[in-house]
Amino acid sequence: MKKSKIAVMGSFVVDLMMRAKSFPAPGETVKGTSFMIGAGGKGSNQGVAAAKSGADIVMITKIGDDAFGEIALASFRSAGIGTRFVFLDDKNPTGAALIMVDENSGQNQIIVTIGASGNITEADIETARGEIEGAAVFLTQLETNLDAVEKAVAIAAAAGVTVILNPAPADRISDDLYQKIDIFTPNESEAELLSGIKVEDEDGARSAAEFFLKKGVKSCVITMGKKGAFFADRNKSRLFPSFKVKAIDTTGAGDAFNGGLAAAFGEGKSIEDSIIFASAVAALSVTKTGTAKAMPDRAETEAFLASNKLLK
Ligand code: RIB
Repeated sequence: MKKSKIAVMGSFVVDLMMRAKSFPAPGETVKGTSFMIGAGGKGSNQGVAAAKSGADIVMITKIGDDAFGEIALASFRSAGIGTRFVFLDDKNPTGAALIMVDENSGQNQIIVTIGASGNITEADIETARGEIEGAAVFLTQLETNLDAVEKAVAIAAAAGVTVILNPAPADRISDDLYQKIDIFTPNESEAELLSGIKVEDEDGARSAAEFFLKKGVKSCVITMGKKGAFFADRNKSRLFPSFKVKAIDTTGAGDAFNGGLAAAFGEGKSIEDSIIFASAVAALSVTKTGTAKAMPDRAETEAFLASNKLLK
């Protein structure tokens, strides 16, 4: 296996997660069944998923000078991710996410306050410029400040680095940004919000993908949970079915998919094989609770793929 260098820019926040038998209605209090605190944030989760999938990760993010920031450093170190480009913000605290998980469905509801990761500056990005330009893949999301995303994507695109943009959470995307994206990876609700097209099945996903291709992305993978992942570029399109597993907690499944996709594509797998690999990483992640700590390692994913074949 060739180790690929992936530059990931995105958020780190601490996840405060409670599980309960049902979500509370507005004004209602329900008793939880467990509480967990751990590393989260879409950028960090994707970096950890890619590192555990075998990639060499340069993580670009920002944390506060506080106890939650210490959780970030410990999590990156334990995943084998260097912390040279984990910038310190002396004004803003590390962000946090309140996550409720419904035990019956494994579904979640999240409120995130992004804190220091929403303050990635031009100077921070310039410090990491060489790492972005030297990567096989640049992977980012929309959870940090948008101006930082635009600047870093421009650097990666100008250097000919493959840009994967996961538009989560959905936010305004300029035409200029769309045109710099090689692989655009919304989930069904983000695809719907951004395109205005209902994405409930393969036909809806195809129409939304056509919208994004017209906007200028080179290819698009719309993740649809149990319904699979729809891929399209200018020449071909197809739906990849999902692997069937018992979902315990779906939080971070999209992050697992994106980290797995970047790692596989960066090491030279075809886009088809990369999507199958990413689907396996996502399937395994939902069988455990938590986000960063639920990401499977390479050996687990390989073993899972060997015993659960998806049609190529
Ligand atoms: O995608 C899941 C992540 O979104 C959680 O870890 C939480 O931190 C939110 O940012």
